[in-house]
Amino acid sequence: MCGIVGVTADPDIGRSPASMLVDGLQRLEYRGYDSAGFALLECNTSRLLVFKDKGKIKHIVEKYRVRDYCCVTGIAHTRWATHGAPTRINAHPHTDCTNTIAVVHNGIIKNFASLKEYLVEKGHRFISDTDTEVVSHLFEDFINHGYNPLDALRKTVEMLEGTYAIAIVYAREPHRIYFARNVSPLIIGLGEGFNIVSSDIPSVLPYTRRIIVVRDGEIGYIEPYRIYIEHNNKQVSWQSRISYITWSLEESEKGGYPHYMLKEIMEQPRVLQETIIGLSTDDSIQKAAEILNNSSYIFITGAGTSFHAGLVFSYFLSRIASRPSHCFISSEYETLSTSASPDSVLVAISQSGETIDTLMALRAFRERGAKIISISNVVGSSIPRESDVTIYTRAGPEIGVAATKTYLTQTLALTYLAIELAAINNSVNAMEAKKMQAELSRAGRIVSRSLDRASKNVELLAESLKRHRNIYVLGRGLGSLIAYEAALKIKEVSYIHAEAYPAGESKHGPIALVEDRFPVIFIASPPSSIYFEKLQGNIMEMKSRGASTIVFGTTSYRNLVNVDYFVDVGEASEIAAIYALTPPLQLLAYKLAVLLGRDPDKPRNLAKTVTVE
Ligand code: AGP
Repeated sequence: MCGIVGVTADPDIGRSPASMLVDGLQRLEYRGYDSAGFALLECNTSRLLVFKDKGKIKHIVEKYRVRDYCCVTGIAHTRWATHGAPTRINAHPHTDCTNTIAVVHNGIIKNFASLKEYLVEKGHRFISDTDTEVVSHLFEDFINHGYNPLDALRKTVEMLEGTYAIAIVYAREPHRIYFARNVSPLIIGLGEGFNIVSSDIPSVLPYTRRIIVVRDGEIGYIEPYRIYIEHNNKQVSWQSRISYITWSLEESEKGGYPHYMLKEIMEQPRVLQETIIGLSTDDSIQKAAEILNNSSYIFITGAGTSFHAGLVFSYFLSRIASRPSHCFISSEYETLSTSASPDSVLVAISQSGETIDTLMALRAFRERGAKIISISNVVGSSIPRESDVTIYTRAGPEIGVAATKTYLTQTLALTYLAIELAAINNSVNAMEAKKMQAELSRAGRIVSRSLDRASKNVELLAESLKRHRNIYVLGRGLGSLIAYEAALKIKEVSYIHAEAYPAGESKHGPIALVEDRFPVIFIASPPSSIYFEKLQGNIMEMKSRGASTIVFGTTSYRNLVNVDYFVDVGEASEIAAIYALTPPLQLLAYKLAVLLGRDPDKPRNLAKTVTVE
């Protein structure tokens, strides 16, 4: 749950590796931001200089004037604490006893306690509480025993259990960065006279568009003009693995908006359009639909927002394709995977493709012979690589910690897939399927229209909700699924406690909390012919207990009574309603965060990608 980056450059090409590191690391801040640090190998002397502290990267860079240093090679780290409090001592990089080796690491070394005991007995001095520090001392220990650094890396990695993306610098080899990967993501950015290792693509984009995804079990090193990768002690040929990244630099920056979250909400019309174009030209949809059709049991999994997208998929599998399915939160995989078999399929949803719980669920199902379909936004990430078929969303990089555009592109891809399956299993005829897919292709326009209509109302609503400490979000059918995602958005960025329930369930307990002016948001989604009366009943129940009643609804619900505030998102069919109802709710969460002085892009205690179980 951290970000690592390492740069090595020929001093004659006129680039400053120190500045490249700073800029690269800032683009990884979404992966964790409680502390950060740099290890630089100084020009001429090759002395190892380490600057680290708790707090934001910007402040650490200013405090130590990191950009001012001349270095040929350096590594850097932004941290989301797992082992040891977020302090200066626990911040990476971690060094050895002689201060010639420095290590940055993303992941968790499971057996660090026994390794530490072993190394302490041998006389190594530890100063931090982290699991990572064992890596620098192990590497040092092998060097002390006469191993060359590459062999020392091989021996070190052999002893590690757990997950890691590691970068190491060694003062005696000032033009080289060693790396190793197991589960945690790692890429190499290829430059002219420089090379970069990093946890993610945005940090290399200002310098190069050519990348290689390092695979599990691979180790190696980069130099300004050389890349070496091996797997199981055999050199790997990487030349055919170079991918060219088409995302623009601007795309991974804020594009004029005050926050990434707002930019990403506003980008939804475009990325939905791009995703639908991708889906209609991609044979993975057809392959995935065949797998679903040939499987007796359909399981769906994901974490957080991706789980919510899974619920929407399950809903449409049943509504459109008449297929029952079971959707579960991925961290619950241990017990749920016991019922997997070769005639089951798991649909694993993860925008990052790296969420460890979802990856572990995938592996548990695969071990039992299940087929795997994944939905991801990141090409070449771990989950797609271990799947039989991957359907990619085309949301572009999502930097805000709160998932917004990736959620709607996921639901789009999944609904498209449900329609494809419905056509194969004859739940709908070809004509109806085409009509539904055409309806989906309007998703981007529906988002634009809804945001245009609702923005002003949402702003006023946020003003009146910002003083409340609790909010209920209720809905029926699809509306209850939209409510789960709306409540997650509100709580994660504004820190107001928001709880979602199917509206009918509210009578079975939650209503006990309702008192004068308690805000209750109702999500009124199609078909109104089924839900209008019942929702009206739920509104009355809340109103008669003093609640403030707010409705986010399609126009057909305009006649609901006893509603204090109605946000009309326009008319939409059942399969397209999510694109009308979700964006104003995302905007409400964003506005609440800003009004309350929170940073919506980096909510406290959260990280964009959760790579620890
Ligand atoms: C959503 O706003 C969250 N930040 C979080 O729940 C997220 O959706 C979850 O961690 C799953 O991530 P993934 O899609 O990358 O697997």
